[in-house]
Amino acid sequence: MNQDQLKQMVGEAARDEVLKLPAGQILGVGTGSTANCFIDALARHKDHFAGTVSSSNATTERLLKHGFKVLDPNDVQSLPAYVDGADEIDPKGNMIKGGGGALTREKIIASMAQQFICICDSSKQVPVLGNFALPVEIIPLAKGAVARELEKLGGKVSLRLAKATRADLNQTPSEPFVTDNGGWILDVAGLQIANPAQMEAQINQIAGVITVGVFAKEKASVLLVSNATGVSRIT
Ligand code: 5RP
Repeated sequence: MNQDQLKQMVGEAARDEVLKLPAGQILGVGTGSTANCFIDALARHKDHFAGTVSSSNATTERLLKHGFKVLDPNDVQSLPAYVDGADEIDPKGNMIKGGGGALTREKIIASMAQQFICICDSSKQVPVLGNFALPVEIIPLAKGAVARELEKLGGKVSLRLAKATRADLNQTPSEPFVTDNGGWILDVAGLQIANPAQMEAQINQIAGVITVGVFAKEKASVLLVSNATGVSRIT
């Protein structure tokens, strides 16, 4: 079974999970290839929900294409669940997120939700976070100052660059990747995040940081994880 099939399998399991919620509620929807599998699996059941709140422009586009109603988070009072993938997840449900660059809106929507249902394949499960370079969304003019602070934590910092488009495929990309919020992303490699809550709080305090991709305060409350033998549900 390849990774795409594992993502599809866990996307379908998440669909079954959210269909257990009473009808007529609002659902939070994450970003990335696993979240896309979930959206596609849920499309046939969109009328079960009064609407969705989306964590990125890409997810909004996909939800609208399937005919889901997408609401402004400011108009939402109650969100029973948020479903999203992760780049890494530890045994306590702490995560690294932001590989797709949507970490700020993901954290906001996760903070509104009563439960965070994390969906991933087993390759994302790690004993300690940090093998995946930690994304940190920043205000562009603070790049140098924030990078120096992050280096003090022992990481190797690099500015995320935009993916090459078809027109400049043969050239090395040199433009920064720009988030949906107009921020830039610093990826910090080489950290061993033994205390995710402390690392999240510490990086949050650096002036110029918009959001750090450690999700400890907003950790997963339910994990649906797929491997070749099926999907396990861990709470
Ligand atoms: C986007 C994210 C994604 O949830 C994370 O990168 C996982 O993506 P995928 O499901 O494509 O592996 O945090 O900002």
